[in-house]
Amino acid sequence: MYPLIFFIILSISNLHFSKSQLQKPKVLSSFSISNSSWTPTENQILLSPNSTFAAGFLPLPSSPNLYTFSVWYYGITENNATIVWTANYDSPVNSSASLIIKPTGELSLSTLSGKNLWPSRPVSRRNTTALILQESGNLVFGDWASFDYPTTTILPNQNITNAKRVLSSMNGKFKFNESKELVYNGDPDYYWTADNAFLKVDDQGRISKENFQSFISSDLGDQKLRRLTLDEDGNLRLYSYDSSLDQWATVWQAVFNLCQIKGTCGANAICMYETSDSSTSCVCPPGFKKSSHDSCERKIPLTDLKNSNFFRLEYVNFTGAANSSSIQDLTLSDCQAKCLAEDNCQGFQFKYDGKNDCILLMERLDYGLWSPGTETVMFLRVDSSETDENPEFTGMTTLMETACPVTIKLPLPPEESRATTRNIVIITTIFAAELISGIFFFWAFLKKYTKYRDMAWTFGLEVMPAGSLKKFSYAELKDATKNFSDVIGKGGFGTVYKGVLGDGRVVAVKALKNVAGGDADFWAEVNIIARMHHLNLVRLWGFCTEKNRRLLVYEHVPNGSLDKFIFQRDLVNLDLDESPQELADRKPVLDWNIRYRIALGVARAIAYLHEECLEWVLHCDIKPENILLGDDFCPKVSDFGLAKLKKKEDIVTKSRFRGTPGYLAPEWLRPEPITSKSDVYSFGLVLLEIVAGKRNFDQQNSEVDSHEWYFPSWAFDKVFKEMNVDDILDPIIKHSYDSTAHFDMVNRIVKTAMWCLQDRAENRPTMGKVAKMLEGTVEIIEPKRPTIFFIRDEDDKSINVAVSMTQTQPIDTLSK
Ligand SMILES: *[C@@H]1O[C@H](CO)[C@@H](O)[C@H](O)[C@H]1NC(C)=O
Ligand SMILES: *[C@@H]1O[C@H](CO)[C@@H](O)[C@H](O)[C@H]1NC(C)=O
Ligand SMILES: *[C@@H]1O[C@H](CO)[C@@H](O)[C@H](O)[C@H]1NC(C)=O
Ligand SMILES: *[C@@H]1O[C@H](CO)[C@@H](O)[C@H](O)[C@H]1NC(C)=O
Ligand SMILES: *[C@@H]1O[C@H](CO)[C@@H](O)[C@H](O)[C@H]1NC(C)=O
Ligand SMILES: *[C@@H]1O[C@H](CO)[C@@H](O)[C@H](O)[C@H]1NC(C)=O
Ligand SMILES: *[C@@H]1O[C@H](CO)[C@@H](O)[C@H](O)[C@H]1NC(C)=O
Ligand SMILES: *[C@@H]1O[C@H](CO)[C@@H](O)[C@H](O)[C@H]1NC(C)=O
Ligand SMILES: *[C@@H]1O[C@H](CO)[C@@H](O)[C@H](O)[C@H]1NC(C)=O
Repeated sequence: MYPLIFFIILSISNLHFSKSQLQKPKVLSSFSISNSSWTPTENQILLSPNSTFAAGFLPLPSSPNLYTFSVWYYGITENNATIVWTANYDSPVNSSASLIIKPTGELSLSTLSGKNLWPSRPVSRRNTTALILQESGNLVFGDWASFDYPTTTILPNQNITNAKRVLSSMNGKFKFNESKELVYNGDPDYYWTADNAFLKVDDQGRISKENFQSFISSDLGDQKLRRLTLDEDGNLRLYSYDSSLDQWATVWQAVFNLCQIKGTCGANAICMYETSDSSTSCVCPPGFKKSSHDSCERKIPLTDLKNSNFFRLEYVNFTGAANSSSIQDLTLSDCQAKCLAEDNCQGFQFKYDGKNDCILLMERLDYGLWSPGTETVMFLRVDSSETDENPEFTGMTTLMETACPVTIKLPLPPEESRATTRNIVIITTIFAAELISGIFFFWAFLKKYTKYRDMAWTFGLEVMPAGSLKKFSYAELKDATKNFSDVIGKGGFGTVYKGVLGDGRVVAVKALKNVAGGDADFWAEVNIIARMHHLNLVRLWGFCTEKNRRLLVYEHVPNGSLDKFIFQRDLVNLDLDESPQELADRKPVLDWNIRYRIALGVARAIAYLHEECLEWVLHCDIKPENILLGDDFCPKVSDFGLAKLKKKEDIVTKSRFRGTPGYLAPEWLRPEPITSKSDVYSFGLVLLEIVAGKRNFDQQNSEVDSHEWYFPSWAFDKVFKEMNVDDILDPIIKHSYDSTAHFDMVNRIVKTAMWCLQDRAENRPTMGKVAKMLEGTVEIIEPKRPTIFFIRDEDDKSINVAVSMTQTQPIDTLSK
């Protein structure tokens, strides 16, 4: 049976209506007993009253002589029919089959040999003898209805609880058990659960579940053609039809990291998820080689069982090891000894959480994935002679170095006047301190990561459990902010106040101005913003909408914004007469490692906004003021998603000036669309500023007296032509630039920045790629020199615009 199913799978998305396109099909409004039998080659279809759906025989594209009797969305995606239901999906028929209503009133899809393929049990109704297709897409014959026997797809307003068949993927591998759990090939554990069973989907984009819960689509509220389909990759997705593109767009999906879907990779392989294009790949762990395109086998079989080695893999979780057992309170060496004592132990996972969970993985390693949320370290058992020097899998090392770590106390910068040897001592101390605190706080870090893991996994568009996004009353916020007295920032979107909630949480309350739409729109937008969880995004905790007031309540990020740290120019010449207040206001200087982590964190957050949030969220205002630093200098991007809240006319008339002067991509000044690549450009400038410690437009005004001067091109020449990196480095920490330790890091940042700053949007990488470039997981080829954009190729007016814009000082920050 399986080969046949596969057959269909390969082709189902790709049906061609070669015949029906040549000749208009005969249209039936019902198929009744008085009509003769309906054969696959007969060019006729059954239409729903308003022609939204059609039913009839469709040839398999891979095998045009075989047919299925299906229901599809009529008149859209015409050379690739969107099939929503199939009668004989597991047994396509040839042209000799026919659909008949027997004189007894029984409906049957029969082959020549008289075998009945559908319905599986005879359906006979003497008083209702016509097969009809309702406007909802429900194919009905008497009391038989296709809505009761879903195949891969649920349509709007289809009653899911009525279903007498489990929703399955076309390849038969995945099932939506009990309308709430996604399971793989009968594996006893689900890989995703909705917690409460689905009840129905509506045409506005809401998926209702039991207990009054729901999921909502990213385009909630628009009445569109929609479908909820269990795709062949095992993901459950809600699609809505975009008539302008004649395409289906995903507006909700169950699983975000496709590697969490069991069976994505085979035995022993580690699934790696590529966020930039939502693709997955299967790589072999060290000591293993490919045995098929998605599975791996040992290079050296485990023979000398008493003398195995163990490879340590971080962030790797084999979620389906056979017969795995968990033991608590063992030391690492006891755990290892337990594994060695079992002949079929393939490795173990060890959790350094105080309880010292030791999980032995027996017999085989299934459903491996790389995920930063993994709480244990994997120790893979290999033969003692195994020394895999070039493993295919290299994904585990980068995160530890770069993820937001540990609390680091930064000393004040060494003073220029002191001897360099002294500086070296201090700098070495900083590094040693980082190392030690790194080890010391490793568990704290893991714990923290666990928390974010959960967030990361649930960052879908699920309505958050009651209580997590709080609706505040205006009085409550007035109270919390002491009558809006403590202003900590002002910006394009409104004023920000510091406050303390009743439960003691410190918050930043942003009072928005010029917000479009009514309460419902605001609520929908806020809900979407609140669902964007990322370690490097400021969390939205609540909101308030009363009368015309619109307030957002964010977590308070204590250290303020990045600009306060990197643009402290007077620090170069320490003034010994500084007042105590000035000294107290002074921010610690960020070293190269921390700057690098900030760059990477911001890149990941924006990549997440662009690529993982279903709806593309353009930030449109990336600048150091909108990058806040937590108490561990973990960067958190603020003001994301707000561009969408602005009034429509604002967007139309002012959109080209909405970003902050100095960070705008060239296309803001050209009649070109603003895309995610515009954010990439702004980010490129921020990268250069992080390295140089000064503002792009400050330098233009002060250091070089020429309109022709353009920071990115200048920096490019310094780094790539004159090979003189030193000239662009932040003077405050220039002396701590150790070319062996930092060259690679700074070089990566600068090269990446150059790619981000390419004049043409299409030449810039996507944000996901940018994050990878910074991580060092992709090779960065030499960038082209960024060219100046607003001087030569624009008319005078735009020169003026560009120049005058650089003079406004931007102020938009959540905290001081
Ligand atoms: C057919 O449509 C499906 C989704 O509806 C899409 O995934 C697939 O790529 C399309 N195939 C072609 C050949 O356009
Ligand atoms: C099928 O039968 C119905 C009702 O008996 C009739 O109205 C319709 O025209 C017939 N269609 C065809 C194609 O014979
Ligand atoms: C069919 O379309 C008409 C007009 O567009 C509409 O009034 C009617 O409600 C629709 N019928 C169904 C069953 O949707
Ligand atoms: C259709 O398939 C049947 C067997 O199921 C076979 O006997 C018959 O010859 C086939 N007809 C055609 C036209 O291929
Ligand atoms: C159809 O027939 C059944 C019995 O065969 C009867 O109970 C039912 O009322 C009939 N329905 C209609 C609409 O006539
Ligand atoms: C769906 O079907 C179930 C069982 O037949 C029924 O109890 C429920 O009321 C139906 N729900 C809707 C929305 O029609
Ligand atoms: C489906 O869910 C039921 C109830 O939760 C459970 O008993 C059953 O084992 C599940 N089936 C599969 C294949 O997971
Ligand atoms: C599970 O492991 C134990 C001990 O290693 C073994 O005796 C048992 O047969 C295993 N069970 C299965 C189902 O593999
Ligand atoms: C591994 O993945 C499984 C399934 O997602 C999860 O239950 C388990 O907690 C994960 N283990 C670790 C150590 O993160």
